[in-house]
Amino acid sequence: MPLLQNSATGICLDIGPGTGQWVYLFARASNPSITKIYGVEPNKAFHAELRRNAVEAGLGDKYEIIGCGAEELATKGGLEPGSVDTVITVQCLCSIPTPQKIIKELYPLLKPGGKWLVFEHVRTKYQNDFVGVLNNIWPHFLNGCDITRPTDEWLLQAGKWDDVQLGPTAGEGKYDTIPHVSGTLTKAK
Ligand SMILES: C[S@@+](CC[C@H](N)C(=O)[O-])C[C@H]1O[C@@H](n2cnc3c(N)ncnc32)[C@H](O)[C@@H]1O
Repeated sequence: MPLLQNSATGICLDIGPGTGQWVYLFARASNPSITKIYGVEPNKAFHAELRRNAVEAGLGDKYEIIGCGAEELATKGGLEPGSVDTVITVQCLCSIPTPQKIIKELYPLLKPGGKWLVFEHVRTKYQNDFVGVLNNIWPHFLNGCDITRPTDEWLLQAGKWDDVQLGPTAGEGKYDTIPHVSGTLTKAK
């Protein structure tokens, strides 16, 4: 995950981290400029393992779990607009029930010049063929994961960006059956 290594800085919002299988990428030793990470995870069953992974990554004092949905951040999370340096969404906008709403609500929390790090399922050109059919059963086995969302377009439409570096994930072709979009959007200053 070169995307996540050394890219997150300052105050970070880690949306839908699950059990924290990627938290080691934010380890203190390789990310000295991270000051705080809020792990926004509504599923409380994941919290103990998420906490353990954060402690193992040397982030015990910096990683704080917020046990609510990303859509509740403005009301329950206590975060001010323009207070976040890095938003991280890794394989969560595919399974969050209201992704467009959440993207629109997260954008104002990001500081001007702040970065959004993305690794997400995105729709394929086979959308209207077998992927559309596959997507009828896929979410039942993968916690509501929807592989037909134009997440990259929704991110682009969320607001003004100074720089957008989004593309297929390394090792994936543009026309893979179940592709990911990966990269960084930098909020306009
Ligand atoms: C497919 S899992 C991915 C977990 C982790 N990011 C990973 O790559 O291993 C999706 C995660 O999004 C979380 N999630 C679901 N609805 C959410 C919401 N409204 N706000 C934040 N996270 C949510 C789920 O609880 C789950 O942990």
